[in-house]
Amino acid sequence: MVEDIQQRKDHHLSLCLLDEVRAPMVHSLDGVRLEYDCLPEMDFEDVDLSTVLFGRRLSAPLLIGAMTGGSEAGAEINRNLAKAAQELRLGMCLGSQRAMIEKPDLAWTYDVRAMADGLPLVVGNLGAIQLNKGIGVSEIREMMERLPLDVLALHLNPLQEVIQPGGDTNWRGLLDRLRDVVSRLDVDVILKEVGAGVCGSAAEKLATLPVAGIDAAGVGGTSWSMVEALRAGNSPAAQAGRSLAWFGVDTARSIQNCRAAFGDRVVIGSGGISTGYHMAAALSLGADAVAVSQPLLAAAREGTREVVATLEAMIYELKVAMFCTGAAKVPALRKVARTSLSQPRPGPGPGSGPGPGPGIVP
Ligand SMILES: Cc1cc2nc3c(=O)[nH]c(=O)nc-3n(C[C@H](O)[C@H](O)[C@H](O)COP(=O)(O)O)c2cc1C
Repeated sequence: MVEDIQQRKDHHLSLCLLDEVRAPMVHSLDGVRLEYDCLPEMDFEDVDLSTVLFGRRLSAPLLIGAMTGGSEAGAEINRNLAKAAQELRLGMCLGSQRAMIEKPDLAWTYDVRAMADGLPLVVGNLGAIQLNKGIGVSEIREMMERLPLDVLALHLNPLQEVIQPGGDTNWRGLLDRLRDVVSRLDVDVILKEVGAGVCGSAAEKLATLPVAGIDAAGVGGTSWSMVEALRAGNSPAAQAGRSLAWFGVDTARSIQNCRAAFGDRVVIGSGGISTGYHMAAALSLGADAVAVSQPLLAAAREGTREVVATLEAMIYELKVAMFCTGAAKVPALRKVARTSLSQPRPGPGPGSGPGPGPGIVP
């Protein structure tokens, strides 16, 4: 069983490097045009990206998104990511820790503070559906005794599960189960999708839970429908997974839905965020910070230097976008005027490509 989880996770790591697992569409954040200001009246050096998230100070509103753990390959990737997050003082999210619940001696593969003891923020991870499958408060407490976390993310991934061979498809009663478990845990909990986004009505229901926030994880980056389709042979599920690689709530809309429902709780923007401009657009739509997963994966397989270089390029571009919109601090981005394009921002760029244009962003 655990062997299966480890193998599946390693398979995910290699599949996620393929171009075909990107959602086949122009990125919604490429359709958000922040108004360029030719008179910013500040020094570029005055742009201040520092952000306090869950009471921890980060040098920029950026987290390395949830990806891995549970295998040797995952541990190596976590090490490279953790050292980069420590060097740049960014948040770091772990991949699903289910493998270490089932096999506690895998805890070391997630122990990023043993790999980089100066990490400012570590976010753990479990599938919310596991709460319908026997994992409860005592299993989570035990997991956290073995590996203390600053925040725990519970992911919601019905599209992925229904395409995944052997996935968990009984989602009955999960909202109440979440309410019960979350209210008895003594750690900040956030919810997250995995790249299919959060619609308005789901955001409203999830906001009734005693959670600290939500990661919008919208459509536009890694398509878990496609990843699982590639593992599902030629079954009807595989065909549905390929055909629905675009399905869900796009990242821009998902951020807006989460912000509207979650008031002043934390909203993280993610799902295909691969440039500093995407970061700026996500922050302007209401995200407090963004998370980046797949765009760091190739670098994370190489080494810490490569991850740092990728992140520094994104952070520099965010700083340029802030300078040229007159936003000296991150919250000021929400006040920047923006227009939506009926046509996407012109390519080339990682978010550009053929496909339907982005939805209108008010
Ligand atoms: C290789 C890989 C493994 C992932 N594993 C997890 C996971 O274990 N738990 C989770 O909540 N999300 C997981 N995700 C989803 C990401 O956290 C993220 O929500 C999603 O990929 C969209 O972001 P992206 O387009 O930046 O990759 C994984 C993503 C990748 C690329």
